[in-house]
Amino acid sequence: MACRFLDKANAAKAEIEAAGITGSISTVQLDVTDDASIEQAAAAVAQQFGRLDVLVNNAAMGVSDLDARARFLKTMETNTFGPFQVAKAFRPLLLKSSTAGAGAGAYSIYVTSGQGSLAHTFENPPHPNTPPDAEAYNACKAALNMYMLLDWRQSRQAGGGVRVFGMCPGFVVSNLRGPNEAARNPGGAAQDPRESGKLVLSIVQGQRDADEGRVVRSEGTWPW
Ligand SMILES: NC(=O)c1ccc[n+]([C@@H]2O[C@H](COP(=O)([O-])OP(=O)(O)OC[C@H]3O[C@@H](n4cnc5c(N)ncnc54)[C@H](OP(=O)(O)O)[C@@H]3O)[C@@H](O)[C@H]2O)c1
Repeated sequence: MACRFLDKANAAKAEIEAAGITGSISTVQLDVTDDASIEQAAAAVAQQFGRLDVLVNNAAMGVSDLDARARFLKTMETNTFGPFQVAKAFRPLLLKSSTAGAGAGAYSIYVTSGQGSLAHTFENPPHPNTPPDAEAYNACKAALNMYMLLDWRQSRQAGGGVRVFGMCPGFVVSNLRGPNEAARNPGGAAQDPRESGKLVLSIVQGQRDADEGRVVRSEGTWPW
């Protein structure tokens, strides 16, 4: 579990362990806006494990109250360029996965959003809980989808070894829209984030392999 603040990572690890999971969790510092931290995290995983079977590129930020240019650049740096750099740094470890081989491979999952779908935006009015200044977030997720698609195509052309997916967690309770309860669960309409976890699990268990290279959601896929 990679987090930009190790104390938060270790607190989350303790919480998950207290809930009684099987298996083990290791933590590593990684800030997706800091290339040195990304390289150090990849080196730490290489040293401790020598390989990676699944990469979930989850980090993102929502809207903030910076001016429009600063907001766009910060969001792009975190939500699009960050995952790009993380995927690049961890690719050699994914290729060393025990699952790598013809027709199989490790999983590289980009957590994106239906808000990044051009077709959905063309065909629908805004989601009732979309903030009025969400342009940066939506545009950055659309750009992330393009990067995911290029990564998928490159992986196929290289003969496989990494199965690349986009994944939308759905509208779920989280800190993305702000830390207070009204922001975490606007209108009480957000779903339980454990449903998003189940979707990630279904991908890494191979149940969504037919949707490789697409943005999967719990029901089907998002149009581009
Ligand atoms: N919640 C939804 O309804 C929803 C819908 C569609 C898509 N998504 C996507 O789901 C993913 C998870 O978001 P979430 O809703 O769970 O929001 P969240 O609770 O705010 O989680 C986002 C995580 O990203 C981390 N992060 C932010 N900047 C980072 C950086 N520079 N380096 C490393 N980590 C960083 C945050 O770390 P800190 O704890 O240190 O802030 C936080 O743990 C995101 O990609 C989001 O776009 C969410």
